[in-house]
Amino acid sequence: MKIVSVINYKGGVGKTTLTANLGAYSASQGKRVLMIDLDPQTQLTFSFMSPEYWRDKYKDTKTMKNYFDPIIKGADEILSLSDIVIHLNPGNVISFNDGKLDLISSHLGLIDIDIRLAGLINVSNTTMHSATFLKTYSYLKHSLEELENKYDLVLIDCPPTFNAAVKNAILASGYYIVPAKLDYLSTLGVEELRKNVDEFLDEYHNHRDNLRDSRYLPVFLTMLGVVPMMAEIRKGDEPVSAQQEYKAELMSKGYHIFQFVRNNATLFGPSSKEGVPAVLTRPKIFTPTARKIVGELQNLGVEFLESIKL
Ligand SMILES: Nc1ncnc2c1ncn2[C@@H]1O[C@H](COP(=O)(O)OP(=O)(O)O)[C@@H](O)[C@H]1O
Ligand SMILES: [Mg+2]
Repeated sequence: MKIVSVINYKGGVGKTTLTANLGAYSASQGKRVLMIDLDPQTQLTFSFMSPEYWRDKYKDTKTMKNYFDPIIKGADEILSLSDIVIHLNPGNVISFNDGKLDLISSHLGLIDIDIRLAGLINVSNTTMHSATFLKTYSYLKHSLEELENKYDLVLIDCPPTFNAAVKNAILASGYYIVPAKLDYLSTLGVEELRKNVDEFLDEYHNHRDNLRDSRYLPVFLTMLGVVPMMAEIRKGDEPVSAQQEYKAELMSKGYHIFQFVRNNATLFGPSSKEGVPAVLTRPKIFTPTARKIVGELQNLGVEFLESIKL
């Protein structure tokens, strides 16, 4: 089971769009996929169902809030993630061959998770600090271990912060991928993000060395690279020159740059939300541009699955 976090501090860069499309594409290729919506803004969830449907059917019983609430209250028994999984069938695909597409939805109630989860970390002495640090940020990792035989791929759509939920995602993951717009600030942001992830992992390993508890294993996290989102394409099929420069700069710093996803309001904009990610759309009237973009998304999917050897 490969676990991949989709991370960027910035909002509106395409994290959710990327998660939905990589998840749907992978399922269409026969992979058993679980997507986890960790963002209290719940956009991944609402990419697949209307807010009304979610409120009536899942809001009270099947969200990440149901998972984190007992943890925050210090309950001995925590929920199994299988209890809150929602099965999806976008566009009534009916069958993904052997694949499947599942979702764990988010909840606005996760907005203050940082204060509440981070509050579990006891700093009164070194041993307690290490023990509570490791425990608090390892919940998701340990819960996902129970699903090892049920999924080939888990994709975690992170909120645009570096909060306790994201720290749980990082420790649970073997990989992370960064969707970004190719501009000056985003280029800086990728470096900043990698630095923070590395520092957090150092902190984790230091606490591990302090405590020497076999439940907390070393974490190896691979940065897969950057997916240029909402790319502006001019002539031919290459991004405009300014974006080429940012791409070159990121590559010179050692980042792999994936197939870009071009800016297109028809395929990705708010009006396209019918519960079917762009990569699976088969519009009746397919313009050449739309066909090209769907092809590029499929290429991205191929590249992604190869990058995690799935
Ligand atoms: N390639 C694209 N072209 C046009 N609009 C896009 C594209 N990708 C995403 N969007 C739109 O941009 C907004 C932000 O994308 P989203 O995936 O929600 O970002 P994030 O999860 O990082 O906040 C959404 O309204 C989405 O529909
Ligand atoms: Mg999002």
